[in-house]
Amino acid sequence: MTRYLTIQSVLFVCLGNICRSPLAEGALRTLVADRGLDLLVDSAGTGDWHIGSPPDARAIQIAADHGTDISGLRARQVAPADMDQFDLILAMDSSNLDDLGALVREDARAEICLALDLVPGRAGGSVADPYYGDAVDFAIAWSDAMVIAEAIVDRIAGDS
Ligand code: 4NP
Repeated sequence: MTRYLTIQSVLFVCLGNICRSPLAEGALRTLVADRGLDLLVDSAGTGDWHIGSPPDARAIQIAADHGTDISGLRARQVAPADMDQFDLILAMDSSNLDDLGALVREDARAEICLALDLVPGRAGGSVADPYYGDAVDFAIAWSDAMVIAEAIVDRIAGDS
């Protein structure tokens, strides 16, 4: 998956940084803490509409339902500097991946791919945007976030 032997930092990127990428950040932070791993985890959005905002209340709720508190996260916009500050930048959907392509240079530190590329059987897939959906859509986004997080910690555990 990645050219790095050991992944030390992961940035999840979606459109608004208030639904999918904060869920993925929360899911991964929880697994990293549970397993005593050392990993920098962050998230950002390609858009600027929600900078400084907490996650969508529906995202906070579905994470809380699964024991993860993401209420303290605040949205930020992805920046060119991120391309050199993270080992792995994971786009939640193919549109996010296209947008990241405009920011990245050939010699950037980060490897950029779809988050679901890490999940066996789901390569090339997108995490559906739940923003205009309902609680079921947020539950699906949480489920996707968790399988992505599990794939990452399995990868790290396999490296060590
Ligand atoms: P996210 O969802 O990219 O998963 O955070 C969205 C949040 C906000 C908007 C679209 C998607 N919006 O259009 O404001």
